[in-house]
Amino acid sequence: MREEAGKALEAMFQAAEKDNMHFAGVSAYRSHQTQITVFNNYVAKDGEEKAKTYSAMPGTSEHETGLAIDVTTHDGACAAQDCFGDTNEAAWLAEHAHEYGFIIRYPEGKENITGYKYEPWHIRYVGVDTATEIYEAKITLEEYYNAVPVEAVSNK
Ligand code: DAL
Ligand code: ZN
Repeated sequence: MREEAGKALEAMFQAAEKDNMHFAGVSAYRSHQTQITVFNNYVAKDGEEKAKTYSAMPGTSEHETGLAIDVTTHDGACAAQDCFGDTNEAAWLAEHAHEYGFIIRYPEGKENITGYKYEPWHIRYVGVDTATEIYEAKITLEEYYNAVPVEAVSNK
């Protein structure tokens, strides 16, 4: 991962340990070539239309930026699976990720906005201020950007 995001992740995992929550990283940075392989494997398995609901087309995955990581419980039992959403770790993550600059990037019920199925395990680093705003407003990154007019940003 990029250094800033990696440091934030370490701090978050350490804080989680203090709350008796044990995480492991599953998949963080992926090269473009790796994403091509990952995506093509899913297309072969499920067809392109379905694959696109849970796997990003190469060139559009946050995993290629070094700012996203899929996490799971330390035993790896529900790695990148829906059952991760039912773990204590997933509940902890949803409540605390923003304190370390991460957001649950593809929330439940926002599939039509993000374009992806609910992924309780995929977190994206955006920095503490932005993550906290997104968490408190219960919005997605897409909604966050639409809510901030471009001219307001460029005038800062
Ligand atoms: N699973 C997410 C959408 C990705 O492939 O980047
Ligand atoms: Zn992911």
